[in-house]
Amino acid sequence: MPEAATASPESQTAGIEKLSQPANSNIKRVVAVMSGKGGVGKSSVASLLATELARRDFSVALLDADITGPSIPKMLGVAGTPATLGNQLIPESSRSGIRVMSLNLLMEREDEPVIWRGPLIAAAVKQFWSDVLWGDVDYMIVDLPPGTGDVPLTVLQSLPVDSVVIVSTPQDLSAMVVKKAVNMVKMMDVPIAGLVENMGWLVCPKCGERLEPFGPRKAEKMAAQMEIDYLGSLPLDPLVSELGDQGRIDEYKPETLATIVDLLLEKVKPT
Ligand SMILES: Nc1ncnc2c1ncn2[C@@H]1O[C@H](COP(=O)(O)OP(=O)(O)O)[C@@H](O)[C@H]1O
Ligand SMILES: [Mg+2]
Repeated sequence: MPEAATASPESQTAGIEKLSQPANSNIKRVVAVMSGKGGVGKSSVASLLATELARRDFSVALLDADITGPSIPKMLGVAGTPATLGNQLIPESSRSGIRVMSLNLLMEREDEPVIWRGPLIAAAVKQFWSDVLWGDVDYMIVDLPPGTGDVPLTVLQSLPVDSVVIVSTPQDLSAMVVKKAVNMVKMMDVPIAGLVENMGWLVCPKCGERLEPFGPRKAEKMAAQMEIDYLGSLPLDPLVSELGDQGRIDEYKPETLATIVDLLLEKVKPT
């Protein structure tokens, strides 16, 4: 097997230093949102976590590190081209006051593909940390691309990440993909706040009964097996995609979100 395939993230971390605070900014806490694979609702969950933190009057930023599949601006209804001040980019603010930086905001056309190789993508993510005038931020949420590739590695190595939230759905819980993500974070010695299960259950629109379309839920058990905490579950709800598509996901307030954020705040205390 080629050496690169077996080298541990630790061995690749050697000598890599964390980036310092961006100029004129003080980012107190950084929470990365990660998943084993795509389509589990990671960006939706990242947006909802940021929204709930903003509701609690924290100053919140959302760094969209999914360079080739950015979806944060669309979900939060953020448009416009970031202005520059000196050599720093100014993040765009959402209606709910979340400061957002995403490659989508810098593209002329939102349907234009980003056809870049890994190193360029990783460099862009670092620039989104260093070259943006973030200002004073209590919590920065980083929406990672799915999986354990180049960008998650770069973010965990280079940004001062305080904690990672793992998102999964009931269908992929049994798969080893979630464990891969968890193991990667552990190997990098970054704390894991816990697991958020997305689309765990749904309420029947006709009878109001709570259904578990993917069979009995096992998120708590899986979290225990992986020796991480279970933060809670969000429902499968057509409103998520409806509001997300309309750029209004910050209007969504599932009843379990507050508890998830309570637990997150216990793990990653405000400073
Ligand atoms: N809890 C949910 N209920 C219903 N639809 C959801 C839920 N979470 C996410 N979705 C939808 O699933 C799709 C993928 O979600 P997204 O957050 O973009 O996932 P990821 O970032 O993991 O690829 C989107 O269309 C989104 O609206
Ligand atoms: Mg996404």
